[in-house]
Amino acid sequence: MSSAKSGYFISFEGLDGAGKSTHIESFRHLMQDRFPDMDVMVTREPGGTPLGEQLRKLLLEAPMNLETEALLMFAARREHIAQVIEPAMDAGKIVISDRFADASFAYQGGGRGLSVEKLNDLERWVQGRADGTLLQPNLTILFDLPGEVAESRRSQVRAPDKFEKMDLDFFERVRQAYLRRARANSNRFHLVDATHTTEAIWNGLKQIQINF
Ligand code: TYD
Repeated sequence: MSSAKSGYFISFEGLDGAGKSTHIESFRHLMQDRFPDMDVMVTREPGGTPLGEQLRKLLLEAPMNLETEALLMFAARREHIAQVIEPAMDAGKIVISDRFADASFAYQGGGRGLSVEKLNDLERWVQGRADGTLLQPNLTILFDLPGEVAESRRSQVRAPDKFEKMDLDFFERVRQAYLRRARANSNRFHLVDATHTTEAIWNGLKQIQINF
């Protein structure tokens, strides 16, 4: 596995309905304007490759055992890293991913109750590099808001997928797991108060410093 050091890797995270999708394309343009000599690309998880998109369809529609779900999330992630993220990083690109491994800790871990030990094992297996380090985003932008607010926003805009049908307690556990991840990795996490207006959130995103 390559060391993937030359590019810059940004992930967007948060509850369904937190508003990350509203901002991700604009953020790509912002990065492109700020770093005109670098390619900036947006990708997503689960997905980002032809196989990953097939797995996404299964993951978002089919009921399945929790371990199966976690293994498929990480299988899609492995393919995404090998086919997309590492080659892009090696080519010096800025990669923006709509979700990455923190989502597994939040949804499969916090939400559905998979142990952190199992998630750590999967993370080591899938994101581990030859030098013993893990591939992690350089920056993770977490759109944080109460489960209740996220639910009311979702119900106004779309039909729910498998995860979006979960109850409020599920989303509260997901939120708390995200916040635990953010506290434990404060060097790469940037917290956004997603209860604010779209305009206020965007103004905040524009202030984020990118340090290569
Ligand atoms: P999302 O990326 O938010 O797509 P959309 O905006 O089209 O709904 O949704 C993907 C869903 O997959 C979301 O509910 C969170 C879930 N998910 C996990 O449970 N674990 C993971 O590791 C990832 C990446 C996503």
